[in-house]
Amino acid sequence: MADKLAELRSLRQQALAGGGEARVAAQHKRGALTARERLALLLDEGSFEELGSLARHRNTDFDMAERRFPGDGVVTGFGKVDGRRVAVYAQDFTVLGGSFSEVQANKIARVQDLALQAGVPVIGLNDSGGARVQEGVGSLAAYGEVFYRNVQASGVIPQISLIMGPCAGGAVYSPALTDLVVMVDGTANMFLTGPEIIKQVTGEDVTSDELGGAWVHNQRSGVAHFEAANDQEAIALAKRLLGHLPQNNAEDAPQLVTSDPPDRADAALDAIIPQDDDQPYDMREVLDRICDAGSVLQVGEHYAGNAITAFARLDGYSVGVVANQPSVLSGVLDIDSSDKISRFVRLCDAYNLPVVTLVDCPGYLPGVQQEYCGVIRHGAKVIYAYAQATVPKLCVVTRKAIGGSYVALSSKQMGNDIAFAWPTAQIAVMGPEGAARLLNRKAAAASGDPAKSDQEFIARYREKFLNPYQAVDLGQIDEVIEPSQTRWRLIKSLELLRTKVQANPAKKHGLFPV
Ligand code: HXC
Repeated sequence: MADKLAELRSLRQQALAGGGEARVAAQHKRGALTARERLALLLDEGSFEELGSLARHRNTDFDMAERRFPGDGVVTGFGKVDGRRVAVYAQDFTVLGGSFSEVQANKIARVQDLALQAGVPVIGLNDSGGARVQEGVGSLAAYGEVFYRNVQASGVIPQISLIMGPCAGGAVYSPALTDLVVMVDGTANMFLTGPEIIKQVTGEDVTSDELGGAWVHNQRSGVAHFEAANDQEAIALAKRLLGHLPQNNAEDAPQLVTSDPPDRADAALDAIIPQDDDQPYDMREVLDRICDAGSVLQVGEHYAGNAITAFARLDGYSVGVVANQPSVLSGVLDIDSSDKISRFVRLCDAYNLPVVTLVDCPGYLPGVQQEYCGVIRHGAKVIYAYAQATVPKLCVVTRKAIGGSYVALSSKQMGNDIAFAWPTAQIAVMGPEGAARLLNRKAAAASGDPAKSDQEFIARYREKFLNPYQAVDLGQIDEVIEPSQTRWRLIKSLELLRTKVQANPAKKHGLFPV
């Protein structure tokens, strides 16, 4: 018995040692933590229950027979974050570059299966050189096992990916199938094909960081939603994200106790809309003033800045906020912001978070490139996502809700439960200049003074349409509210809607306009 125990303890020691001291030192040298150090930061102390710690690959090709590490380059199991259960896997770059093997897949798939059955979120810490080359097609099939489970779990349990090192080749698709992706600046890279292959195929010269660094995917591609300065920050972010989400789609996100009074009025909001229609203001400031103090956490902050998507809290309840940002491209809806908004609305709907939309949008962006690149198809996603979402939906039109943006973002027809407008709201089919071009052309030409004629037309148009009151008469806006009262009005409305029940027609699935 003693020898058996000694063997087990020795194997456990090997599992804890990862790829050995030198590899661990190299990992630290690049500013990265090891898989176990990361899990220790993520999980409540003493809560980690490891599974598969002793599993080793059976491959004997090349020199792999001699390179068998207990755990095979990934640490998997269960634990708790702030007292709530989670499933985790963390790839260990110190073991064979964290390369993805059949054993890795078995271990990750195991926690994915258990997490789905138990209804708990999965957090994946990615740090891997991709498919283990020595395993050939076995490692490709292995990816398939994980991807399939990512898809089955999608919308049932939250899945969060932290990219903390390389994530190359097929490895990128597992994070891409998850709900939220955090990348660590300086150490994380995501790309399908690396710089060398790109150089061979297209002749382009690019560094790994330029091709797939944290900033690229946060700002240009939209693949990642958060950028963290280091491993510690990424892990802290993951914990904060979990706090905004339920354990699964049958539960609600936790309510936090807040010291921010629900009926707090904010007089600054009564003066935040500039006198001049074309002057921007910062919608982020509006959100900060309305939501619980310090609760706004932007998702995809650096991508399509003309739209804001954020987790936030109102009276301690987690909500999703969508808003146009007038200080970037006038808050226009374009291809990228449509993608960003529609994805976020679906995320909120899947996990029972009410959606609060603040609208100040001149409409969809006109332009040849936008049309060629499918602004119709992408713009349709916003309509689809809102119309399909059955969670409580509230909107506040702060200023412009022109044309398509009114219909897509704030209309009753998309299922908005309660629609508010500030007195500064302008709800119209098109802007006054566009209307003048369309409707006043002949009159202006005949007038002898086209500029004056247009001015008069625009003044009349503004008077008639650039206000919230026609929409109020038609029942499209429920109430015009004083901006300073917005927080309290939203909180009371959400309280009413907490028990909202709505179902869409039964179907296998719709055809989301991707
Ligand atoms: C096997 C691998 C590996 C891999 C790294 N290693 N990647 N072993 N399969 N995919 C091993 C290295 O041989 C090395 O072992 C150790 O891990 C550390 O790697 P280094 O190269 O020394 O580290 P570094 O210089 O930091 O470079 C890291 C790296 C590089 C940039 C990630 O290793 C790399 O380019 N790897 C390949 C990336 C890639 O192209 N992956 C795509 C695979 S194809 P030793 O013992 O020698 O130190 C794919 C398709 C799947 O994933 C499609 C599914 C749908």
